[in-house]
Amino acid sequence: VKILSLHPKEIEPLAELTAAIPLLRRYGWDVADARKILKRALVDPSNDLIVAKEGRQIWGLAWIMKGGGFARSAYLRLIAVDARVRRRGVGRDLMKEAERRHLRPNGLILLATSTNKAARRFYERLGYRSVGSLRNYVRKGLREIIYFKPSFRSRLKKKS
Ligand SMILES: CC(C)(COP(=O)(O)OP(=O)(O)OC[C@H]1O[C@@H](n2cnc3c(N)ncnc32)[C@H](O)[C@@H]1OP(=O)(O)O)[C@@H](O)C(=O)NCCC(=O)NCCS
Repeated sequence: VKILSLHPKEIEPLAELTAAIPLLRRYGWDVADARKILKRALVDPSNDLIVAKEGRQIWGLAWIMKGGGFARSAYLRLIAVDARVRRRGVGRDLMKEAERRHLRPNGLILLATSTNKAARRFYERLGYRSVGSLRNYVRKGLREIIYFKPSFRSRLKKKS
C-alpha cells in the first residue's frame, strides 16, 4: 500500500468509499456532497489530502486542514479506511504520513464522536490524548471528544 497525495482522478472512488461509511452517512455525507467537498478541498492550499493506494485501488483517505486547529495546530478533518481492509495498518500509515507532514510545529488536533470506540482506540494507540469534549457540537445529542498530539518541540518545552 502506497501513501500519496490525492490525484484528481481519485475523487470519485473516494467519494464512494467515504459515502459507504455509516458514521459519515449519519452526519449527512453522501456521494454527491463528498464529490463536491473533496473537489473544493483539493484546490484549496490550506487542505492536504492523503490517500492509501494499492495498484489502482484506493483504500483510504486522511484529510488535514493546515492551521485548522484554533488557527495554530493542524486539524485532521477526516480519516476513512475501506471496511474491507481495516485492522491491517492502513489507517496507521495514513496518520504517520499526516504527522510527518503536519505534526510540526504545533501538533495535531482532531475530534472523535464519543461513541466511536474503534476510532478512539485507534487515536489513543497513536499517542493522541483526550483533552476535552464538546456536547451537541456536530449533531444534537452527540458528544465530540477533542484529541491532541503535541509536536516533539512542544513536548520538550513542557518538560523543561
Ligand atoms: C478508524 C479507522 C480509520 C482505523 O483504520 P484502520 O486501517 O482499520 O486502523 P489500523 O489497522 O491502522 O489500526 C491501528 C491500531 O488502532 C487500533 N484500532 C483500529 N481499529 C480498531 C478497532 N475497531 N477496535 C479497537 N482498536 C482498533 C488498534 O490498536 C490497531 O492496531 P492493531 O490492529 O495492531 O491492534 C477505520 O476504522 C475507519 O475508517 N473507520 C470509519 C471512519 C471513522 O470512524 N473515522 C474516524 C472518525 S473521524
